[in-house]
Amino acid sequence: MHELTKRHQTHTKTFHGRHADIFRSARRLFGRRKKLKVLSFGCSTGEECLDLAEVFRYSDITGVDVDQEALKKAAHIHHPRISIMDSTEGNLRAHGPFDAIFAMNVFCVFPKSKQFEDISHLYPITHFDDGLRLLHRHLAHGGILGLFNAAYFFDDFSLFDAYQPEARGFPPYGSWMVRHKPDGRRANRNVVLFRGDELTEDEWIEMKRQDKTLQANGIRQEWINPETCAHLLHDVTLWRKIKD
Ligand SMILES: C[S@@+](CC[C@H](N)C(=O)[O-])C[C@H]1O[C@@H](n2cnc3c(N)ncnc32)[C@H](O)[C@@H]1O
Repeated sequence: MHELTKRHQTHTKTFHGRHADIFRSARRLFGRRKKLKVLSFGCSTGEECLDLAEVFRYSDITGVDVDQEALKKAAHIHHPRISIMDSTEGNLRAHGPFDAIFAMNVFCVFPKSKQFEDISHLYPITHFDDGLRLLHRHLAHGGILGLFNAAYFFDDFSLFDAYQPEARGFPPYGSWMVRHKPDGRRANRNVVLFRGDELTEDEWIEMKRQDKTLQANGIRQEWINPETCAHLLHDVTLWRKIKD
């Protein structure tokens, strides 16, 4: 019996179609290759696995999670190319190495992190780094890593040099979640674009509280200290592993 991998995000919210556009753009990077091994790391109740099975039409999809309630629901999915299981290193070894790994909305602790300017006590960068190192061990050479909504920048990953960016600016900023510098301090603020106005996140939350039907036109990210952040590849969602 292998131990579960260390937990990151505690929320299990997910929904069908959430990142289908990112999956499609990853699929294109494989050209004519059809039968791939694809991992949804943090699959929750499994909708993401169904999306992946639709986009990667001839591939085997593995979904792993640590949340037993979510896994219980995911177990109702019966699909010939989808296997859902506990997130253990043994399972990853047995089903990998993977040609593509997606860790969407996993390397964070949201919304808990929202109330802190410094999250080093709540979710230190070492935890993020360990999680990415785990995925690195099970990603094939030349494989694609999809990352969305992480609390830190991939540029600050200790094995950053083993990767090259594959898709930039898609979706804009690569995250709507605020990100942090390696010491845990907040690196940016989100500015919500709404009918020609620019609102702080708090202003937007208050407006939404009064009228749930409102839809923002987009989000812009503003650096707290542009000198230390502006050079980062913050808008990359898909990375290719180029070194073991
Ligand atoms: C917000 S959900 C995201 C679900 C899906 N990836 C999506 O984007 O819609 C985050 C999931 O990551 C899972 N998670 C956290 N730590 C994990 C770990 N070490 N291994 C696998 N899953 C993990 C949580 O249990 C949760 O189900």
